Amino acid sequence: MANRQNKQHQAFIASIRQAAPYIQAHRGATFVIMFGGEAVDAQFEQLVNDIALIHTLGVRLVLVHGARPQIEQRLKQNRAELRYVNGLRVTNDAALTAVKDAVGSLRVDIEAGLSMGLVNSPLAGARIGIASGNFVTAKPLGIRDGVDYCHTGEVRHIDAAGIHQQLDAGRIVLLSPLGYSPTGEIFNLSAEEVATAAAAALHADKLVLLVDESGLRDGRRQPIRQLSLLETEQLLRSRRKLDSGWVRHLNNAVDSCRRGVRRTHLIERRADGGLLLELLTRDGIGTLVSAELYEGLRNANIDDAGGILKLLEPLEEEGVLVKRSRELLEMEIDHFMVVKRDGMIIACAALYPYPGDIAELACLVVHPDYRSNGRGDSLLEAIEHRARRHGIKRLFVLTTRTSHWFRERGFVSTGLDQLPVKKRSLYNYQRKSKVLIKAID
Ligand SMILES: CC(C)(COP(=O)(O)OP(=O)(O)OC[C@H]1O[C@@H](n2cnc3c(N)ncnc32)[C@H](O)[C@@H]1OP(=O)(O)O)[C@@H](O)C(=O)NCCC(=O)NCCS
Repeated sequence: MANRQNKQHQAFIASIRQAAPYIQAHRGATFVIMFGGEAVDAQFEQLVNDIALIHTLGVRLVLVHGARPQIEQRLKQNRAELRYVNGLRVTNDAALTAVKDAVGSLRVDIEAGLSMGLVNSPLAGARIGIASGNFVTAKPLGIRDGVDYCHTGEVRHIDAAGIHQQLDAGRIVLLSPLGYSPTGEIFNLSAEEVATAAAAALHADKLVLLVDESGLRDGRRQPIRQLSLLETEQLLRSRRKLDSGWVRHLNNAVDSCRRGVRRTHLIERRADGGLLLELLTRDGIGTLVSAELYEGLRNANIDDAGGILKLLEPLEEEGVLVKRSRELLEMEIDHFMVVKRDGMIIACAALYPYPGDIAELACLVVHPDYRSNGRGDSLLEAIEHRARRHGIKRLFVLTTRTSHWFRERGFVSTGLDQLPVKKRSLYNYQRKSKVLIKAID
């Protein structure tokens, strides 16, 4: 019994420790979280609690809700219908009445949920302020191919300054899929569009889309945890049959990436605590579509050898890196990853696996003109991602001048005896390189 309790305590402590760097990194960040009207169901209280917890960690939160099922229910009650033409909704006068009723009532329910503060609830004493208002200006979709879309609109402007003011005051901002025009009209908007537009206008650190579909998987049924913008576009273009919901979500993620939102997380909303797992653990539970992480970053090919040599040469001359011949580099090109910008290789890194579950990270270099912009971090993250895919659990690096950079990123100093035998025998004692290692499983 005591043993079991001890194990539970250890697991709890390990979780808190794992979450700590994320809690630290998220404080003061702005997240836009979107969920469909389906999410306001029996499990909604759980979601509200998780949202409130993230808020109390100091994250600036903007929530965007959809209302599709509620609108459809109202329409049915009113014996009206929302027509779809070319995949777009036509909101006539009767449909607009249903939209207003459904959205208004849903908004009140969400606000009530977030206001809960019973003594025995997880939100006890939290007292969260919610702001909703006319933050979204809309314009009509208009007449397209002879079809008048009436009160269906698109986002024209997001009042980012107004939203930031509310966030500065510690409130959560709640946006509905409605927008108003300067002429005083109301437009029915898609919640996804409101969310992406808001995330872009606010320069949000993250857009989180809570989706109804179960997690995205690759051809071997393995969960896809990360995708670069390029990979997402390739997946959408590929012949792989994707669920229509996922096609929509991935397109939204691509859209938000292109508008400058660096990270879009797609999380299955039914997964208990999914939001917390995605935001507070390293591997997460959903799929992260990232523009920044891998912008221009890809595996190297033989044509990159010249560019890599050019990047490495000055550091080899300075003695920061060991000299590599062109022949050796060409032979080992598959180990390299590069960042290419405007036709020039501006950063690279290499991963050399050794027998067992250990690998060397080598040649991590960012061109001096492009440093201090997070590229080193992105490359390290990409190399770690690649290593994990190969079942590697420990990553080591030998460095003479950059040990602090690595230590700040979770590497710890270690002895030569921790290196694979083959590497140990090649160690150059004159260089006196420091050996650092990081557990990455
Ligand atoms: C180390 C290196 C890859 C970092 O690239 P980067 O794109 O500038 O990295 P990031 O933007 O992610 O991080 C930059 C931060 O690291 C710091 N940093 C850079 N070099 C450092 C070093 N040698 N020691 C400690 N910190 C260092 C920067 O000051 C900056 O911190 P700041 O944001 O607080 O100012 C780059 O400096 C480089 O190419 N160095 C020369 C090659 C090298 O030594 N490689 C490692 C051996 S394999």
